[in-house]
Amino acid sequence: MQYSEMTREALAAEYERLRAAHQRFVLSGNRLDLSRGKPAADQLDLSDALLTEPIDRADCHLAGGLDARNYGVPLGLPEMRAFWSSLTGIPAEQIYIGGNSSLALMYQTLVRGMLFGMADSPRPWCQEPKRKFLCPAPGYDRHFAITEALGFELIPVGMRSDGPDMDEVERLAADPAVKGIWCVPKYSNPTGVTFSDDVVYRFASMKTAAPDFTVMWDNAYLVHDLADEGEHLADVFAYARECGTEERFCYFSSTSKITLPGAGIAMAAFGPKSFALHAKTMGISTIGFDKLNQLRHLKMLPDAEAVRRQMRRHAALLREKFEILENVLSRDLGGLGCATWTHPKGGYFVSLDVTDGCAKRTYELAREAGVTLTQVGATFPCGLDPRDRNLRLAPTYPSKGELLLAAEVLTVSVRLAVLEKLLQS
Ligand SMILES: Cc1ncc(COP(=O)(O)O)c(C=O)c1O
Repeated sequence: MQYSEMTREALAAEYERLRAAHQRFVLSGNRLDLSRGKPAADQLDLSDALLTEPIDRADCHLAGGLDARNYGVPLGLPEMRAFWSSLTGIPAEQIYIGGNSSLALMYQTLVRGMLFGMADSPRPWCQEPKRKFLCPAPGYDRHFAITEALGFELIPVGMRSDGPDMDEVERLAADPAVKGIWCVPKYSNPTGVTFSDDVVYRFASMKTAAPDFTVMWDNAYLVHDLADEGEHLADVFAYARECGTEERFCYFSSTSKITLPGAGIAMAAFGPKSFALHAKTMGISTIGFDKLNQLRHLKMLPDAEAVRRQMRRHAALLREKFEILENVLSRDLGGLGCATWTHPKGGYFVSLDVTDGCAKRTYELAREAGVTLTQVGATFPCGLDPRDRNLRLAPTYPSKGELLLAAEVLTVSVRLAVLEKLLQS
């Protein structure tokens, strides 16, 4: 029965029952964590070949007399650029290989815009009297933190089931101070949304007042399907070529959650002019990234089929965890009218919305009972969730037993927070 249909006495009885359950969790002294969007150790073990399959001297001898052990090849090994081309459909000559972190490449790209301007900038962004960046929310806190640190005003944009609210994006892009937008187009962090073809096409075709409007297209979860059949994401550069807007897009991904987050391979892709600028500025900052790690990755994952096999192994481990969380949420919160949550087909997160004004209290109650949740507000620009209702849940890192317990603490905390509010009103 929905809480809204229950009498005050029934609500009070339910509150007392849950209060006792919560107290039992508090006394049990658990230390659990649902906040870390990281692979668990059994997932990392799937990439043992990176630790055990050696690269020998012969592997290091590259075409053209180059030696992978030495300086050089600043754009990345041609084979690694071809590898990412096969995964993304982007021509290899537009692909740049970085170190282990795509987030670092995103930061470097936006700092480049600040210092030198993007391909079509009238002046460097740091010389703009006002600069704003669009932030689809709920979204990824580390994205928002980059543009906040660089002095952009962050403008929240609503997320719908097929991507950001494009009417809103197009309306806001009519302001020349709006210089760009963050996007996680597949299995978005944290909503799990994959952008529809229509949304992707609107990004490529929309009018923007700023000539250097930049779409930060972070395809972090491009092959991270939970089901055998993944969701389809349109090729944004194909649309952009058709619309003449290739310079608008900065594309990023990495093998962080394919192999090892601490030692993976990151990539970026740009339109031709932007690629040349990126290669030039990065060429000033480094003589080249770790090519031996690129060789190790190519040995372990020579082609797209090998990646698919690797991702099926990840999915086999992750599916069970997403199922545990879904089962507890639907068993404990289903039909009460106090929470809705996402049912992602891939990626690393579940996004939980509770009754307005109850997320912070849920966080506190869970913490008292030994469960750390992602900080409330983290999924919104500047850490401010205007409705105090969103919680990002990360089921991948804890063991299955820990996850089950943490999910039970969470659902007790949600119900208590909502009942407190109802009983106070
Ligand atoms: C959307 C998104 N982008 C980027 C990253 C980090 O990527 P990398 O490890 O390549 O820096 C994460 C990590 O959770 C993420 O969720």
